[in-house]
Amino acid sequence: MEKFSRYPLSVSLLHWLLAVALIGNLVIGWLLDDQEDLVTLHKSIGITILGLVLMRLANRVRLRGRLPKTVNRAGTPAYFVEIAVHRLFYTLMLAIPLLGWMKTNAAGHAASCFGLFSLPALMPRSRELSHLLGQLHSLTAYGLVALIGLHVAGVLAHRVFKAQNILPRILPLPQRRPDSQAHTAPEQSNAAG
Ligand code: HEM
Ligand code: HEM
Repeated sequence: MEKFSRYPLSVSLLHWLLAVALIGNLVIGWLLDDQEDLVTLHKSIGITILGLVLMRLANRVRLRGRLPKTVNRAGTPAYFVEIAVHRLFYTLMLAIPLLGWMKTNAAGHAASCFGLFSLPALMPRSRELSHLLGQLHSLTAYGLVALIGLHVAGVLAHRVFKAQNILPRILPLPQRRPDSQAHTAPEQSNAAG
C-alpha cells in the first residue's frame, strides 16, 4: 500500500470538526418540525459552522504552498472530479448557512447565535422570499448530502480499485513526515479545492 503525505494538523482538525457539525446540523434540520428550541439550536450551530468555514478557508489560503499533492494524476477524470467536489463543498458550506440566515430574516426573525449575538439582517421581511429561501436552503442541503456520498465513494474507490488508503492523509495523527519523504505517488499540482 502506497504511503502518502498528510494534510497539516489544522486542516485535518477543521475537516473533522466541520464534518461532524455539518452532518449533525443536517440531521437536526430534518428533525426541526417547528420545535422552537431545536430551531434555535439549529440556527446557532449553523452560524458557528459559517464562522468555522471562513476560518477553514483562511487557513487553507495561509497553507496553500504546504498542502500535500493530490493523489490523482493531473488531467484525469478523477482529478477533475476531485477538484470539482472540493470546490463545491466550500461553495455549499458557505451557501447553506447564508441561505438559512437570509430565510430567517425574511421570516421576520434575527439570526441569533446561542443568544450571544445576532447577525445583521440581510433581507426584508417577505413571505414569498422566506418560502423561496427556505426551499433553496433545503435543496442545497440535499446537494451537500449527495456530495458527501460522492466524496466517501471516492475515498472507497481509491481503496478498492487502486489499493490506495488515502484516509490517513486527512486524519489528525502525530508524526507527519515531510512531503518529499512520504509522497511516493507521481508529483502533481497542489491538492484541489
Ligand atoms: C451549514 C449549516 C446548515 C445546515 C447543514 C442546515 C440544514 C438544514 C436542513 C436539512 C433543514 C431542513 C430542510 C427541509 O425541511 O427540507 C433546515 C431547515 C432550516 N434551517 Fe438550516 N442548515 C444550516 C444552517 C442554518 C442557519 C445558519 C440558519 C439560520 C440562521 C438555518 C435556518 C433554518 C431554518 C429557519 C429552517 C426551517 C426551514 C423551513 O422549514 O422552511 N439553517 N436546515
Ligand atoms: C460534511 C462532510 C465532509 C466535507 C464537507 C468534506 C470536505 C473535504 C474537503 C473540502 C477536502 C479537501 C481538503 C480540505 O480542503 O479540507 C476533504 C478531504 C478529504 N476527506 Fe472529506 N469531507 C467530509 C467528510 C468526509 C468523510 C466522512 C470522510 C471519510 C471517508 C472524508 C475523507 C476525506 C479524505 C480521505 C480526504 C483527503 C483527500 C485527499 O486529498 O487525498 N471526508 N474533505
